[in-house]
Amino acid sequence: METEAKKQTIFSAAQPSGNLTIGNYLGAIKNWVDLQDKFDCIYCVADMHAITVKQEPALLRRRTLETMAIYIACGVDPEKVVLFVQSQVPAHAELSWVLSCNTMFGELSRMTQFKDKSAKNTGNVNAGLFTYPVLMAADILLYNTDLVPVGADQKQHIEIARTIAQRFNSAYSPTFTMPREYVTKEGTKIMSLQEPEKKMSKSDPNPLAYISLLDSRDDIIKKFKKAVTDCEALVKYDEARPGITNLINLYSCFTGKTVAEIEREFDGRGYGDFKLAVGEACADMLDGVQNRYKEIVDDKAYLEDIMKKGSEAASRIAYKTLAKVYRKVGFYPQPR
Ligand code: TYM
Repeated sequence: METEAKKQTIFSAAQPSGNLTIGNYLGAIKNWVDLQDKFDCIYCVADMHAITVKQEPALLRRRTLETMAIYIACGVDPEKVVLFVQSQVPAHAELSWVLSCNTMFGELSRMTQFKDKSAKNTGNVNAGLFTYPVLMAADILLYNTDLVPVGADQKQHIEIARTIAQRFNSAYSPTFTMPREYVTKEGTKIMSLQEPEKKMSKSDPNPLAYISLLDSRDDIIKKFKKAVTDCEALVKYDEARPGITNLINLYSCFTGKTVAEIEREFDGRGYGDFKLAVGEACADMLDGVQNRYKEIVDDKAYLEDIMKKGSEAASRIAYKTLAKVYRKVGFYPQPR
């Protein structure tokens, strides 16, 4: 009898550490939606990662629920994918400990995100910030993940997850699937609207630097109007002019137009016209997301039901992997 080939498994997550931005959407969530029809997809709200920087507890709880709602509003379909909250599946913390004993101090010291974040949070360089990539490796490896759709900033974290998996597999025996990153060309790195040489970040202290998926049309248009460009007034893609290049890239993502088409459309017109067009295209794209979000965000029972079903489904897979790992490292069997 012929058996159907097993679908590849996709895993990804975002931190509920602020309102998700168009960077998160174009770099990751849009791809999550595109992949959900063809693969076994598991998507998570990474609340445990979020506490590596100080969080207000009530706000974190609220944002966890809102992040669930945002995923769904962006098109993630809870009927097709497993959607859950990281802290509701304790296997993540449990595997993370075992993996941390198979991760080298030197490897973690080289992580650029650790260096950046510890420079920014000098008053709170906690051990969790340092072992952050180990928890992320646990997230990925628990589900025998083949592909991880992320933005470019997460590539180094996928790389170290592979290193850890490889080390464990050769020290014990083949246990973990080797994950690969899945990044698309356009959305890979959306830059800040205020400092276009930096990536757009939801935790940027300056709200003009990012577009939240929930920003009003007026705010979106205002933020694009104030976006930092240069004094050349030339709508032309040029890596040496990161501000205008970022806006061209964004307009291309929002409208599906190519760079050449955009340059032609705005040939001889100033930045004012172009920025307005980018703002309007962005607001148009987010209109549907925001309407859907408003419909579901106050329906706590609906969202909690998704979380419950999601954590049950995720736990079934995660604990199978964890049991294997515990056996291989020599932990005494659980009492029956
Ligand atoms: P986070 O919450 O910072 O971002 C979520 C996703 O959005 C992508 N992203 C961007 N893409 C393009 N341009 C940008 N400016 C931009 N900013 C963010 C990120 O690359 C990411 O894909 N550590 C992760 C969350 C995580 C995770 C995981 C991801 C926890 N466990 C396991 C994958 C697999 C993070 O902080 O993402």
